[in-house]
Amino acid sequence: MIQGNGVKGLYEMGLKTLPKQYIQPLEERMSMMTNKVVPQESIPIIDMSNNNNNCDVEDAICYAAEKWGFFQVINHGVPTQVLENVKDATYRFYELAAEEKVKYTKENSPTKHVRYGSSFSPEAEKALEWKDYLSLFYVSEDEAIATWPYACRNEALEYMKKSEALIKRLLNILMKRLNVKEIDEIKEAVLMGSKRINLNYYPVCPNHDLTVAIGRHSDVSTLTILLQDQTGGLFVRTEDRCGWIHVPPIPGALVINIGDALQIMSNGRYKSIEHRVTANGSKTRVSVPIFVNPRPSDVIGPFLEVLASDGEKAKYKNVLYSDYVKHFFRKAHDGKMTIEYAK
Ligand code: SIN
Ligand code: FE2
Repeated sequence: MIQGNGVKGLYEMGLKTLPKQYIQPLEERMSMMTNKVVPQESIPIIDMSNNNNNCDVEDAICYAAEKWGFFQVINHGVPTQVLENVKDATYRFYELAAEEKVKYTKENSPTKHVRYGSSFSPEAEKALEWKDYLSLFYVSEDEAIATWPYACRNEALEYMKKSEALIKRLLNILMKRLNVKEIDEIKEAVLMGSKRINLNYYPVCPNHDLTVAIGRHSDVSTLTILLQDQTGGLFVRTEDRCGWIHVPPIPGALVINIGDALQIMSNGRYKSIEHRVTANGSKTRVSVPIFVNPRPSDVIGPFLEVLASDGEKAKYKNVLYSDYVKHFFRKAHDGKMTIEYAK
């Protein structure tokens, strides 16, 4: 990576033109696709409060997971202050001196559970992404307290803790619809046995329409809970895969998306959808996704309950989750190709 200060450092040097390593091929640039942005469509916004009939909430979530793979939730129970605090903490981390941040790069980090870097997979990418990240893999609270950067660890931990009830509620609803009546310990581990939180920072970008902040990909998680700020720029593929729709920032809302692991476990019932983030020419953007994952040692495949319900054939084979994740990180972002590994 650009030692210590990332893409943020490049921007702060007063760069007027985009360095050539960041110039994306034409077909990856959103500006070349304006005719394919679908302004009239939007992903569902679901009110999780109990003022609604709970059945309506369940129907809305399952429908959104089947049709869109992406939705926003409001009145979700995670306090607004907790969300504001983790956004502030993200800025606090990136505002640290380069000598502080460099301690967490791949070469220097004292633990593989904490990683600060730029782009996605620079060794594999033909063109880099305009993004810095701090990735925190959660093992236990004690380990997090001992190893996560002080500038953001309490706020990141609190956000994870306060999201737990929402995650369980969503998974319970989605499982019930798949005929998985009860989430026992084994199912709970395979659905949400490990977590990773990323603090993403997307600086202002010169010639922003020549590059991307994040290229087309689908997540490898079970579910992703995403906090975005008010800048905007997240786009998801439409169902017919012909266009892109914007996910408008809504104060206090969280964006939820289904990841590949849940697409596999649900035998394709729930969709893990391609998404991307555009670079911005005038505003910084931060986002904080929590990736809810199986444990690396879990073997994932379609749940027997799904196959048994009407003798459905398995669309995916069983794969070791750590192999699946390694496969994802070995490549550049390439749309929905990772899931081919489970076919
Ligand atoms: C991601 O796709 O990992 C992050 C999306 C975002 O920053 O909105
Ligand atoms: Fe993503």
